[in-house]
Amino acid sequence: MKILGINCMNHDAAMAVVDGTEILWAAHAERYSKVKNDHFLNQAIVNEAKTYGPFDKVVYYEKPLLKKTRQLYAGQYGPALSYTEMPQWHLDRFGIKIDEYINHHDSHAAAGYFTSPFKEAVILTVDAIGEWDTVSISVANGNKIERKETIRYPHSLGMLYSAFTQRCGLKPAEEEYILMGMAAYGKPDYRDDIYEDFVQQGPFKLKQNIHRGIGNWHAGADPVDLAASVQSVLVECLANLWQRASEYSNRYGTSGYVGRNLVYVGGVALNCVANSGLANMGLFDNIWIVPNPGDAGSSLGCIAASEKKHLDWKNPFLGHNIEGEYPVDAIIKELTENKIVGVANGKAEFGPRALGNRSLLADPRGPEIKDMVNRIKRRQKFRPFAPAILEEDVNEYFALPTPIKSTPYMQFTAAYTHGKDCPAILHYDNTSRVQTVRKSDNEGFYELLKAWKSKTGCPMLLNTSLNIKGEPMVNDTEDGNAFTYKYGVKVL
Ligand SMILES: [Fe+2]
Repeated sequence: MKILGINCMNHDAAMAVVDGTEILWAAHAERYSKVKNDHFLNQAIVNEAKTYGPFDKVVYYEKPLLKKTRQLYAGQYGPALSYTEMPQWHLDRFGIKIDEYINHHDSHAAAGYFTSPFKEAVILTVDAIGEWDTVSISVANGNKIERKETIRYPHSLGMLYSAFTQRCGLKPAEEEYILMGMAAYGKPDYRDDIYEDFVQQGPFKLKQNIHRGIGNWHAGADPVDLAASVQSVLVECLANLWQRASEYSNRYGTSGYVGRNLVYVGGVALNCVANSGLANMGLFDNIWIVPNPGDAGSSLGCIAASEKKHLDWKNPFLGHNIEGEYPVDAIIKELTENKIVGVANGKAEFGPRALGNRSLLADPRGPEIKDMVNRIKRRQKFRPFAPAILEEDVNEYFALPTPIKSTPYMQFTAAYTHGKDCPAILHYDNTSRVQTVRKSDNEGFYELLKAWKSKTGCPMLLNTSLNIKGEPMVNDTEDGNAFTYKYGVKVL
């Protein structure tokens, strides 16, 4: 049974193919169209998807008519009443017919739970907006997921964060991660004012509908202080939701108990700073965040929701394949001579992080590296670069949140505990968004770090996404060549 899953007409269109329980392929439309955060599918990604076909069923990740009722309520009459704002209309041009539509939060929950290692868990989904649901808590046992609680539009924690993203001059539904990085530089001076004007706790509610933003709220405020304030409110509201979710782990399950396993999913789960504080609360023994917890990951999640069974999750390398051995020796040579090198090898990452197959790698030691990488990335100075480190060495260099033993998909931040030897991978607050690397995730990348360590004694590399400024991550060999041509950095 081959199934095609689709997410499109949102901020990051994606497709996935599953055969039985095997994930054959999953990819983002932007990597093929070269349009960052592309809302739509394109012929190139559809053609690649069809190489895995024919399909027995096509599943879509949300319910468009239900979404239109919310859009009508929200006064978004344009999209609500337009027939072109229907996924089937968009898919007709590719000859794809949707067989089944899944509820937006059910797709998220299934993307999380059915890729997790758990047989029972509490699932917490937090995002900005889909149809109506913005927060949901479910309990999962075996192949059954049962919704227990839901918070609905216009009460949305993700939307609150997006409104502040926009207030700080950034792009909402896209640049929330930049706001998160800014927060480390500010003071949460406006925390109380946010509660006063927007947020009611226990249970979480918004005091006004901020779907269209918050205008120029506190016009004179420094954006870094606004960022720190909304980050602090976000973490407090999420802490309440985690607490609420943890209560179910003591009440349900085959033995009246689902274990202290949390599946955390939805776009808000990309906030790695919040994730670390929440994990440290110690409410759960095991936490699973699928590497693509936002809507793009729901192209896979809607298939799992339709089939109601665990997928055979191995790793997030599921996209376009560039054939060839992982070039360990050539990478080491470039790093030794030039300190910086690009890698485009194997299957592309499904998710927003480059995890070794479409990465720009650099020697993390020395004071000049950050500027060197920034000459290419040309991004705000305050934004840190992440390290990839051998899993066996992580505890010597970083203090991971208490229950977290590994973070192979860069989902948690950790304090650096090894002095000042690697300034390029440290944020202002002396933390890093760590990627731990083990053989079972990516053998080539693991062997590279091993070889780098045996040559230099350093078990980590700076790892950032391989992309030309303003473009999505490199996908194929041609993109890699374009990168070399533009920046003069070798891509192997
Ligand atoms: Fe969502």
